[in-house]
Amino acid sequence: MSATPPITMPASLDAPLPMTLPRLAEKKALGEPIVMVTAYDYPSARVAEGAGVDVVLVGDSGAMTVLGYPSTVPVSTEEMLMLAAAARRGLRAPLLVGDLPFGSYEGSDEQAVATAQRFVKEAGCDAVKLERGGTSAQRAQAVVAAGIPVMGHVGLTPQTATALGGYRAQARTAAAALAVAREALDLQQAGCFSIVLEAIPAAVTAELMPRMRVPVIGIGAGPDTDGQVLVFHDLLGLYDGRQARFAKRYADLGGEMLAAVMRYADDVRARAFPASEHCYSIDEAQLEGFRSKLAGQ
Ligand code: KIV
Repeated sequence: MSATPPITMPASLDAPLPMTLPRLAEKKALGEPIVMVTAYDYPSARVAEGAGVDVVLVGDSGAMTVLGYPSTVPVSTEEMLMLAAAARRGLRAPLLVGDLPFGSYEGSDEQAVATAQRFVKEAGCDAVKLERGGTSAQRAQAVVAAGIPVMGHVGLTPQTATALGGYRAQARTAAAALAVAREALDLQQAGCFSIVLEAIPAAVTAELMPRMRVPVIGIGAGPDTDGQVLVFHDLLGLYDGRQARFAKRYADLGGEMLAAVMRYADDVRARAFPASEHCYSIDEAQLEGFRSKLAGQ
């Protein structure tokens, strides 16, 4: 065997630069909208990469969209790590953020740091996300101090949706809007590099934005945030559960997939598949030899 080392090809000159925290901050400063989408496996990550999005979130929404749980609450750290590692294998340029699942970070700073470290070490995430303010701001500070970038998430926080009165818009009274604003500002103060605002009135977002120094990504928070995020399966019409008002559907892939599998089933039942172009050939002499050997068995 040759001992010559493999030749490393230089990266293509037009390959997108990897997204970094300074580049995200620069986008905010320049007023360039930040595009974020969720992904939960290799193919969805390849689509996100190909579309040139800036940030990919392995959201705990994957509990519902790919694992079939009724909410985000039951998903385990192990399950999230498996999804995040698969997404990592499909990504090069976008920043990869892993969602810390319910119960994996709230207990103590030590628990939050240990879980965040697993997302970085075992799944290759660049950053983690956690929900709510309050003690979560303290946990975020601990994780940031451990050298792991943290994205915050306030407004409708699905992990604690029951306490918030269900999956509904938040911050619709002056007091509730102030509470959400305080949580966002606390997370920013704690060192979060970015904050997600979910399901709050656009006018509340507009009032809050001048106070936000870090990039703010909205989902159901109006047009004034620095960027937008959508759940991959909502965007593509792949999720058949209840769809939130803010989830714009850009395709009906669920319908197309169903139609394709039904056409396949029809073809098999009609013996129309496989056709000759889907079959392998063998040399006639080899086939004859095989026939006579088989007959002698
Ligand atoms: O889990 C998720 O997909 C999220 C986004 C909606 C921000 O948290």
